[in-house]
Amino acid sequence: MEKFILSLDQGTTSSRAIIFDHKGTIRSVAQKEFRQLFPQPGWVEHDPLEIWSTQAGVAAEAVTQAGLNSEQLASLGITNQRETTIVWERESGKPVYNAIVWQDRRTAAFCDELKKQGLDKLIREKTGLVVDAYFSGTKIKWILDNVPGARAKAEAGKLAFGTVDSWLIWNLTQGKLHVTDVTNASRTMLYNINTMQWDKELLEILTVPENMLPQVRSCSEVYGHTSGKLMGQAVPIAGIAGDQHAALFGQMCIRKGMVKNTYGTGCFMVMNTGTEVIPSKNNLVSTVAWQINGETTYALEGSIFIAGAVVQWLRDGLGIIRSSPEVEKLALEVKNSDGVYLVPAFAGLGAPYWNQDARGTLVGLTRGTTAAHIARAALDSIAYQTLDVLKAMEADSGLDIPELRVDGGATANNLLMQFQANLLQANVVRPKVTETTALGAAYFAGLATGFWEDIPSLEQQWQEDRQFSPEMAPEETESLLSGWKKAIHATISWTE
Ligand code: G3P
Repeated sequence: MEKFILSLDQGTTSSRAIIFDHKGTIRSVAQKEFRQLFPQPGWVEHDPLEIWSTQAGVAAEAVTQAGLNSEQLASLGITNQRETTIVWERESGKPVYNAIVWQDRRTAAFCDELKKQGLDKLIREKTGLVVDAYFSGTKIKWILDNVPGARAKAEAGKLAFGTVDSWLIWNLTQGKLHVTDVTNASRTMLYNINTMQWDKELLEILTVPENMLPQVRSCSEVYGHTSGKLMGQAVPIAGIAGDQHAALFGQMCIRKGMVKNTYGTGCFMVMNTGTEVIPSKNNLVSTVAWQINGETTYALEGSIFIAGAVVQWLRDGLGIIRSSPEVEKLALEVKNSDGVYLVPAFAGLGAPYWNQDARGTLVGLTRGTTAAHIARAALDSIAYQTLDVLKAMEADSGLDIPELRVDGGATANNLLMQFQANLLQANVVRPKVTETTALGAAYFAGLATGFWEDIPSLEQQWQEDRQFSPEMAPEETESLLSGWKKAIHATISWTE
């Protein structure tokens, strides 16, 4: 009987499930969007029950679509939007509050407070992270401080915290397992990436009781089995990784210095830095890439908060396109943005600027500016932000980055990929399977259960679809870049 791996990819805007065969080829995909809740400006929430129901729904759908029964599932891997914070009651399994999403800025003032107290250095040394509302720790504290009765219940051991992976596994096992993996733990601002343990001092600073936290495991091992009622047959749950870490593995960036960039809602560039933590001097974060068989691999990451989401804004906010793919056609109506720059700091600025108060800016408008120039500037902004992060990464690692492996929805846009190669003056390589996040989670699960033998055999599967090489003279790139720098400057000074 032929066997397969089921990969659950729980993202920011949709839950997805993908079945992979032994060659790493996709057999079926099911996807369902869910509601984005914006209760106040700067706040972003999800309903945890909707996260679970959409995820369980698409898992069943993917299995049916591929014509399988659950006995044919060798194992299941999970990958997820990171940092998003859920707190639930251990006894009833009910969330005490909505999931506070990674994009949510409600704890920005508290983060400023931590910085004022000079705690940013300590936090960076222990966690590899910059102090920012992006990470889970301050979100947990907010729930405990603001949901009536929550803190007392937490102290009495009645509440559990989890990132989305933990929440899904809790539900898949009907409350038997409360676990997470090292990559998700490394995004909480509570986990020490040097000792690879929850950090007591940080728990104290953020007033989070340790008993709420999940057990931290590696990325590739059998954690437990799905409850029979859910999958018909108990399926081993054998892989967990945050989505960007899974994508790095799915892109087979398995050697030190290899870099991938995922173009999703945001853009996340990650470099494998080998078995050592490289502390960033250029405002990137150090993070855990993965842990397999007791060996930890580390990474440097630059997180850009708005990338693909800028195209959604052109569609839903400005109404200048009807569907996201139309952006390429509109942008191609002009040769370039004609000096128009859009800095999409709609949720503040992430790496390498980390400005929580920044707001989007559009500069360089003239009487001749058209919707096409704005569309072009929007696409360009994705590439410029990526360049800023890549430069910081080269400076931190002391390595040249001659090649960037890319994945995610926006990589289908050839215009953007070519502009990206021009700006970076480096090759941009798109693989055949661009579902690298789900693939990475499948790889972790398949390695743990002997479905795949070892990493070298997985490396054989990675195949290039297209390579974009620089077609612009370096001087031309420089002059474009100086305009971008001015636009960033204007964005930041607007907040002052
Ligand atoms: O850090 C947030 C990131 O993990 C979200 O990724 O693909 O769901 O937008 P995505």
